[in-house]
Amino acid sequence: MLQESLAELLSKKLVMITGKGGIGKTLVSTALALEARKLGKKVCLVESTAHDQIAPLFGSPAIGHQLTELSPGVHVINLNAQDNFRDFVIKHLGFAKLFEKVFTKPIVRSFIQMLPGIPQLTLLGRLFHFVELDKDNKFDIVIFDGFASGHFLSLMKTPDAVLHSGMTGPVIDETKRVRDFLADSSKVGIALVTVPEELIISEALDFSARFAKDSPAKLTTVIANRRWPAIAPSAAALDSELEASRSYWEEQQGSQQKNLLRLQEGLKAIDPKLPLLVLEERGSFAEPLDVPSMQAWVEGAERL
Ligand SMILES: Nc1ncnc2c1ncn2[C@@H]1O[C@H](COP(=O)(O)OP(=O)(O)OP(=O)(O)O)[C@@H](O)[C@H]1O
Ligand SMILES: [Mg+2]
Repeated sequence: MLQESLAELLSKKLVMITGKGGIGKTLVSTALALEARKLGKKVCLVESTAHDQIAPLFGSPAIGHQLTELSPGVHVINLNAQDNFRDFVIKHLGFAKLFEKVFTKPIVRSFIQMLPGIPQLTLLGRLFHFVELDKDNKFDIVIFDGFASGHFLSLMKTPDAVLHSGMTGPVIDETKRVRDFLADSSKVGIALVTVPEELIISEALDFSARFAKDSPAKLTTVIANRRWPAIAPSAAALDSELEASRSYWEEQQGSQQKNLLRLQEGLKAIDPKLPLLVLEERGSFAEPLDVPSMQAWVEGAERL
């Protein structure tokens, strides 16, 4: 059974995942996508990275900016800034002719890419489009395997920065729509992934406090990944070598537990209702992903 607060997260239209580099964002995003599919939802799983990270997990070659159904009911895309900009001008602003005439010129293209905020705005605009405007696909949920924490926070601050810049015109109207959408916590959920290590917990707490202050969207869930599972008692004390590794294991578990409690306390001060979930260390995950083992992993999430 899926943990109640994860089910609640998957009831949103857009779920955005963030966390420090290498912490398990892509794995968690993909596991949540598979779980949403299991709940009968049509899923769009999005990343925006230089090299596809999600496609290989499905045993597929890179797909890039091409929406592809990599598993029944799960569409994947890796959005890139240039194609986002084109899609934004044509699909959101409705300026197909203008785009062909003006924006395909190399000089204009490179100028546009230099404008601050444009890649962030068009990315958010595209996510909004997949959720609310995509008539062809009608996704039930969009899961964004988001950027690492600092980069993610600046992405989320962009709409306000643009709205306060004094600009006017269609881009501003679109930015307002996107900003209102992000601020609607019935539709948008944010999950922060962390691990139970001292310094990383400090970063996660710092991020959560800044996010609460600076982002229009609200943090919905914190997921502590890679907690070591309890060692099976039957395997204990077989010989002295195993006995030694058992005490190392227990020491690690003890320090993880201490870090998790500190995380829990710190989060309470930011938002007392914020759920903290724990996912187990699995040693490794093979590619392509084995769906039942991914599901067992995410369904085993425990609320602290
Ligand atoms: N609970 C876990 N058990 C075992 N391995 C894990 C677990 N969580 C993540 N990993 C492994 O850790 C590595 C990093 O995970 P992942 O690629 O999902 O992180 P990421 O946050 O998306 O990284 P990046 O910031 O580089 O995009 C992967 O090899 C993944 O399989
Ligand atoms: Mg990743």
